[in-house]
Amino acid sequence: MARRKKIYEGKAKTLFEGPEPGTIVQYFKDDATAFNAEKRDVIEGKGVLNNILSEFFMQGLGQIGVPTHFLKRLNMREQLVRSCEIIPLEVIVRNYAAGSISKRLGIDEGTQLPRPIVEYCYKDDALGDPLVTEEHIAAFGWASQQDMDDILSLALRVNDFLSGVMLAVGIRLVDFKIEIGRVYDGDFQRLVVADEISPDSCRLWDIETGRKLDKDVFRRDLGSLTDAYTEVARRLGVMPNNPPAPGKPTLVN
Ligand code: TMP
Repeated sequence: MARRKKIYEGKAKTLFEGPEPGTIVQYFKDDATAFNAEKRDVIEGKGVLNNILSEFFMQGLGQIGVPTHFLKRLNMREQLVRSCEIIPLEVIVRNYAAGSISKRLGIDEGTQLPRPIVEYCYKDDALGDPLVTEEHIAAFGWASQQDMDDILSLALRVNDFLSGVMLAVGIRLVDFKIEIGRVYDGDFQRLVVADEISPDSCRLWDIETGRKLDKDVFRRDLGSLTDAYTEVARRLGVMPNNPPAPGKPTLVN
């Protein structure tokens, strides 16, 4: 069998050239990292869960008219996406204080914010993805003013959608991070939600008990990450039927 061309290997995913021009295969690994990869482990089954959860969220966004890069899931660990130019920003939306904003501003974790707060970090591992302002983004040309207007609108629509979906299954969406891609349709370009949306890139707390159901379980050594992600998938009704052995993709219909 012909070997696929690897385009990029990140911390949690590997990207391969897709079957048609303009497409990419995203392979979800079981690797978990935190604190800019200072802490790392392999969590069996994480890739399968994130693949299915990201499919669920991206498809839902598509259904309400929020453009995403998602095309279709190929198997338990892979999905086909549109190839796009990733804007070098991590777009973070916060509904409740937690993590870095709590540290930075001295706000107790769990405090409801007066309104959703959108933050931007410059995507650069060597620099530890520093927080930047729109002034930096404009001055260094990472995105145009029109892009920033579109990014803000996408981020808030994703927030409303995800908050509602999670609330319906008794989970509070504390915050999340998305990445935005630029795609070209002939002479036109537009922005789409790219990368992944999964418990790796969100903070999800059980509304009743406050139990953490996201990557903080790994970051803070709070127990089994697989159990936490499985609980999210179970509540959303998207549990994989037969999680395969790690590294061995299984074809599904
Ligand atoms: P923070 O509180 O550490 O800034 O994280 C905010 C949100 O962004 C949280 O949901 C976790 C997510 N996140 C990522 O997806 N990737 C990262 O590298 C970091 C630091 C956070």
